[in-house]
Amino acid sequence: MEASVTVSREAPEITRHLTAADLEASLARDVAEGLGRMPKTLPPKYFYDARGSELFEQITTLEEYYPTRTEESILATHAAEITKLADADTLVELGSGSSTKTRLLLDGMRSTGRLARYVPVDVSESALLGAIESLRADYPGMAMHGVIADFERHLGLLPREGTRLVAFLGGTIGNLAPAQRARFLAAVRSGLGPADRLLLGTGLVTDLTRLVRAYDDNSGVTAEFNRNVLRVVNGSLHADFEPEAFDHVAVWNAEAEWIEMRLRSQKAQTVRIADLDLTVEFAEGEELRTEISAKFRREVVERELAEAGFTLEAWWTDPQEDFALSLAAPS
Ligand code: SAH
Ligand code: AVI
Repeated sequence: MEASVTVSREAPEITRHLTAADLEASLARDVAEGLGRMPKTLPPKYFYDARGSELFEQITTLEEYYPTRTEESILATHAAEITKLADADTLVELGSGSSTKTRLLLDGMRSTGRLARYVPVDVSESALLGAIESLRADYPGMAMHGVIADFERHLGLLPREGTRLVAFLGGTIGNLAPAQRARFLAAVRSGLGPADRLLLGTGLVTDLTRLVRAYDDNSGVTAEFNRNVLRVVNGSLHADFEPEAFDHVAVWNAEAEWIEMRLRSQKAQTVRIADLDLTVEFAEGEELRTEISAKFRREVVERELAEAGFTLEAWWTDPQEDFALSLAAPS
């Protein structure tokens, strides 16, 4: 007789705080605002439609893009310690994307017998659903509650069950400007109880040549990712951006200590955004800023966490100090 194993495989719950219509409305506001100012800017969260999320996954495999594999190596070395210190039964992950590195944390929690629930939160529906699908088979006893939401707007609506470890990996916090970061960290803090913890991944200020190369790879994947935001605007707002008429630019801003990704107009051109009834002029060589990716020093992370009401409990880096993970507790 064949042995049979019964596993509980509850259907994952999905909550949507952001519909396609909400996302389109916020894109419309941000495009009108960002393209109406000088220099022109667009917020990075609009990179991540299905194609943008796929391009980001490709970036994570590039030789030049070291942050993902470096953070993964820190997690691989320290996940047991991290999950022991956090002593959580619920992992909430903000900007979870493909949830690949997450497995190291889930495995750490499972090995202590504490793993009850995973709550991935992402603005990208395709990434979130893909991640849940791929985790389902491997974590049969774990409840999953995916949340399609904007972590800058919907933190107050996240599930509150369990003792939570809130992970914000990948260095995505560096994609927020300093004032946005302060608001974001304060909002995370206000949703946590005394036993909950925050695990924060931050890229560190490191060798500048390597840093810039990570955002300007030879195969042009990052350039395509950058131009994808124009395709998103074209698709959602009936605009007529010609993505190929913009060059990808990555520069280090030494004063602010962040990488800036920009799109440089190859020529003088006029773009029509039909849904906004807006016409935007680009001069030849004019640059549109599409992303900042701040790199940190330990004292800055510690200070920003303290200002938001957190105490840094532990700090792990790779041997080259390219990337850090911080575990923070409510003060
Ligand atoms: N954490 C993963 C993915 C990083 S990519 C990793 O470390 O590899 C950044 C992720 O954050 C993307 O999946 C993107 O869709 C999501 N994201 C960006 N801005 C967001 C926002 N405002 N709210 C929710 N998710 C956001
Ligand atoms: C998601 N985020 C942390 C990436 C970064 O490194 O800032 C996005 C990215 N931009 C270009 N390459 C990757």
